[in-house]
Amino acid sequence: MTPWRPRLGILLSGRGSNFEAIAANVLAGKLACDIGFVFSNKPDAAGLSRARQLGLPCGALPSAGVERALFDSQVTQLLKDNGVDLVCLAGYMRLLSGGFVTQFPQRILNIHPSLLPAFPGLDAQYQALMHGVKVTGCTVHLVDENLDSGPILLQSAVPVLDGDTLETLSSRILKEEHKLYSEAIAWLAKGNFRIQGRRVLKT
Ligand code: GAR
Repeated sequence: MTPWRPRLGILLSGRGSNFEAIAANVLAGKLACDIGFVFSNKPDAAGLSRARQLGLPCGALPSAGVERALFDSQVTQLLKDNGVDLVCLAGYMRLLSGGFVTQFPQRILNIHPSLLPAFPGLDAQYQALMHGVKVTGCTVHLVDENLDSGPILLQSAVPVLDGDTLETLSSRILKEEHKLYSEAIAWLAKGNFRIQGRRVLKT
């Protein structure tokens, strides 16, 4: 069987450090993928400028005021036109419509800075600090129509230290995010897993 070499569509809304970590692994030949398209719903996203500097195919469509299903169908078209077959949400701060999700069945990943299902939504690191947990972390999961939901592929635990501020905790988690996302993509590409209910199991 020919191994699957995914053509990634990376969707981001801001800084884009997860995108950069993935791109660094792809460009160094450590991750057997190609980057088909980098997309942002924010034309001024820093991650998009970085994609341009790296000479990667990229583009933006502003989402403000556009109806979700219409916007998502335009994004889907852009991704399909660029041959994308694995979508990676990397700080893409939008909920995907059902129409988008069905276009890429089990082929959309998201990274979230907590051990889901704890602390979904915005400001997960702040939520963890305020709750007083001693361990938090990050999660890579398959995406469905709900927020930070969908079967979990990989998680990495990160301790919360007594002296932590939002900044120190976020940066400790982010370091793990940068490793975990590429690991999850590599695992998905190998295809040695099966999904049983919500559980993603090694085969
Ligand atoms: C990351 O911490 C990512 O886990 C989070 O946004 C940040 C994006 O950073 N995503 C979510 O909270 C999704 N619910 P980046 O732009 O530097 O990759």
